[in-house]
Amino acid sequence: MTILKINGKTHKFNQDPSMPLLWVLRDILKFKGTKYGCGKGLCGACTVHINGQPTRSCVLPVSAVEGQEITTIEGLSENIDHPVQQAWQELNVPQCGYCQSGQMMAAAALLESNKAPSEQEIEMAMSGNICRCGTYPRIKEAINRAAELATEVK
Ligand code: FES
Ligand code: FES
Repeated sequence: MTILKINGKTHKFNQDPSMPLLWVLRDILKFKGTKYGCGKGLCGACTVHINGQPTRSCVLPVSAVEGQEITTIEGLSENIDHPVQQAWQELNVPQCGYCQSGQMMAAAALLESNKAPSEQEIEMAMSGNICRCGTYPRIKEAINRAAELATEVK
């Protein structure tokens, strides 16, 4: 029996403990917001937070995350009002949208650790998240806007 804590709730299931977390999230628990891209830890589409850290769920066996706090895009906020979500909507960031939950999870983790990141810090933090549509300029703008919104909220 594997027991995972996802978005504040406990989930129990019987599966091979070596199964990647992404498979469990999407195929078993139906958290479909987290996407399968490369399956090799290279594109960032599958990014979730483990104890607040952005992590590639496609290469992470569930046995490694038992008892840890897992947050998916569905758990980022209750009312879709996290500053990152607000900024993404305001600036119409997504094109096809496929990479965007991973981008937003990476951005949210960045802003959690750095309230006012520089251009260079944003580029470094986001460099592992690939967007085949090339929405990078809007992503960068939205991270700056989310930082402003987060300050306004407080
Ligand atoms: S699907 Fe996990 S990094 Fe690409
Ligand atoms: S919006 Fe299409 S892959 Fe990023």
